[in-house]
Amino acid sequence: MQEALNSLHQEATTELETVTSSDALREWELKYLGKQGAVTKLMRGVGGLPSEERAAFGKRANEVKTALAESYSARETVIKAQELARDLSQGQIDITLAGRPLSVGGLHPSTQTLRRYREIWAEMGFQVFRSREVEDDDTNFTLLNMPPHHPARDMQDTFYTTTPNVILRTHTSPGQIRSMRALGADGTQPIRVILPGMCYRFEQITTRSEIQFHQVEGVAVGRGIRMTDLKGTIAEFARRMYGDNAQVRFRASYFPFTEPSIEVDVECFLCEGSGCRVCKYAGWLEIAGAGMMHPVVLRNGGYDPSVWSGFAFGMGPERVTMLMHDIQDIRYFWGNDLRFLEQF
Ligand code: DAH
Repeated sequence: MQEALNSLHQEATTELETVTSSDALREWELKYLGKQGAVTKLMRGVGGLPSEERAAFGKRANEVKTALAESYSARETVIKAQELARDLSQGQIDITLAGRPLSVGGLHPSTQTLRRYREIWAEMGFQVFRSREVEDDDTNFTLLNMPPHHPARDMQDTFYTTTPNVILRTHTSPGQIRSMRALGADGTQPIRVILPGMCYRFEQITTRSEIQFHQVEGVAVGRGIRMTDLKGTIAEFARRMYGDNAQVRFRASYFPFTEPSIEVDVECFLCEGSGCRVCKYAGWLEIAGAGMMHPVVLRNGGYDPSVWSGFAFGMGPERVTMLMHDIQDIRYFWGNDLRFLEQF
């Protein structure tokens, strides 16, 4: 029995020297020191020994067990160190590798259209005037010739605030009043501005209408400005925006702040007028409401309407962007879904 112990000690020690990985080390431990291991099994045989030999065997067996356990942990330390060193050298960062490309942001499709609008109007001599999104009821409606209870107010469902008279603007037209007052020098200077910005309406959200949307308002006030100036200006804008062959047509309409009022269509830039799904087979797309500024509005802006005249227009860039990119649902614009935004 003593000999069996000694040779087991010998065997286990020799084998341990060949162990080079954590996995193999674990196997070695099971094989010799585990509950089913060789040393344990041998120790169980102590009962079969003559009683005078038992004590010596037990003592020797414990010595062997302790010695093997010490060898085991010494080996474990070496292997752990080796494996760590290997992981570190293999896991090293290769600084010669090309870096991961940074994903570059893109411009929102509305921003792209707005920038194009601004560029064109700037070339045509219109400066940008920034007007406020939080408006007062007077400027949004009353000063634009829509007194309280005027039926035209129903055309634009309004977001009211808890502060009386403070609302979110329903259109960019109140900027007409603000720009005339800010730049007209008490009705003595001509002005030519566009007013781009966000508008808000308390509307049912559908594929075609949102509670927020951009408008680009335009205002030109001067002496002797006539309807033909408006028509020529809009036609020139359409040529620059939609191409040299862009045809426009003007339809009579009604807005409280213009007289006369018109709506402007451009020949469908997708089918060139022959009729398609986008223009609903009409051949024309509506791009603006416009008109000659109402005398009441001019007066509210500080001008004497018997001397000064002007035109105004309002355009909706989201509509145009939808048509240009065949976007079926206006809700994508403010949904912040990258799968949509990344396409532009
Ligand atoms: N403010 C109008 C709307 O939101 C659009 C509009 C029509 C603006 C005619 C104008 C205009 O300046 O002359 O429906």
